[in-house]
Amino acid sequence: MESIIKPKKHLFICSRYREGGAECCEDKGALDLILKLKKEVVRYGKAQEIFITNSGCLGYCQKGITGVLYPSGEFLFQMDQMSLEQIKEKLELKI
Ligand code: FES
Repeated sequence: MESIIKPKKHLFICSRYREGGAECCEDKGALDLILKLKKEVVRYGKAQEIFITNSGCLGYCQKGITGVLYPSGEFLFQMDQMSLEQIKEKLELKI
């Protein structure tokens, strides 16, 4: 039977794009942020423990870039204004 990897932390980040100038996380750089975080997770050797996944709209577009961290269920708002270090702290991403 195939074993299933269970991450210790899983951060979903909204990368929804909306046409017509409507506020959305993609416009605020969500895809760049996701890529940066994925690279950091790999750099720290934690790819089996910490998952970073893009998601659809999480319902807080005015507070975007919005993410939700599991297993705690904590919402992270305005991630575009957080430093990479602040986000890494939330992920407990350290060597
Ligand atoms: S577009 Fe990101 S929370 Fe709605």
